[in-house]
Amino acid sequence: MSAIIRPNVLQMEPYAPGRPIEDVKREFNLDRVVKLASNENPFGPSPLAVGAIQRAAANLHQYPDGSAAAIRNAIAAKFGLEAENILLGNGSDELIHLIGLLFLDGPDTEMIMGNPSFVRYDAAAHLAPAKLTKIPLDADHKHDLDRMLEAVTSNTRVIFVANPNNPTGTVVTGTAIRAFLDKLPAHVTLVLDEAYFEFAAHAPDMPNSAELVREGYNVIGLRTFSKAYGLAGIRVGFGFAPKSVVDAYHRAREPFNVNSLAQVAAIAALDDTEHLQKTVENNTFGLKFLKDLFEQTGGTPVESYANFAYANIHREADPVFQALLRKGVIVRSGKHVGHPNFLRVSVGTMDELEIFASEYRAL
Ligand SMILES: Cc1ncc(COP(=O)(O)O)c(C=O)c1O
Repeated sequence: MSAIIRPNVLQMEPYAPGRPIEDVKREFNLDRVVKLASNENPFGPSPLAVGAIQRAAANLHQYPDGSAAAIRNAIAAKFGLEAENILLGNGSDELIHLIGLLFLDGPDTEMIMGNPSFVRYDAAAHLAPAKLTKIPLDADHKHDLDRMLEAVTSNTRVIFVANPNNPTGTVVTGTAIRAFLDKLPAHVTLVLDEAYFEFAAHAPDMPNSAELVREGYNVIGLRTFSKAYGLAGIRVGFGFAPKSVVDAYHRAREPFNVNSLAQVAAIAALDDTEHLQKTVENNTFGLKFLKDLFEQTGGTPVESYANFAYANIHREADPVFQALLRKGVIVRSGKHVGHPNFLRVSVGTMDELEIFASEYRAL
């Protein structure tokens, strides 16, 4: 007899991560592979975080601090909030999953998200299982906040806005977000997913979820140590939320959801302003380099504030992705999000971007 698995789970597509470097090396018999597919930090982890991990390794026989007090206090101090406002998860992926569990309560409840946007929001809605309403981005590939607001019903519980958005890199302004929040009914929580915030902090009128939570808005802000802080492999995401949400979150989460190495690494990375600054500065150059490249080669780049470029290359992206893979450059095609002519390329080091540029121009 076969096990009975919930049909809504079987309808889900497994997450398709960027191809691992070792896989691509083996498949195409390559010595050098450049991965520009997962928006990782091209300079690696903060050296301070690596040191902290090495020191903490001797204590791995002990359980982690389940309340993760040290890192939550450090985040609270840095962002002007209290520890009772801080969420911490096994990557922000886990926070997205748990937000689904906290707010969505069966098919009569509803999530609203942009389209295309980060695919894990779909998964949170599917697992609930809740109704999912996707609102197309506007002509500039930005979240269409007016249409999102129009879609709100008495069943809506949560709205996800990735700012900057993945895969487009676009941002909505603080003025627009505040006007949206002022009109949002009290039964709806806005999740502002700021996984790429550090790269966009300079954008004009950039909203900041820590400020919005401080001001008492019904907002959850999500951040991550995976991108600008360079710790994708150890999995730490954090968030800012009203205290009542954080209280509910503690009831629902696993008791030791952030492991001991992740906790010490995150504390060290938070203080490594030098590594962060180097990463953000390189990103500004890298984005400009990719924008110029796509424009010079007949493409139309979207105005990205994240650590990746997104461009309409006016031809099918899948064959371009395949051809680049054979040359040892891993990028992403937009086909799986309904943009078959778009390519997404993470900002690497300038050396990596030069390799991408020369292979791309040679296609
Ligand atoms: C918008 C957005 N949110 C969240 C995540 C998840 O990040 P992590 O789980 O590594 O913190 C990503 C990762 O690509 C992302 O693009």
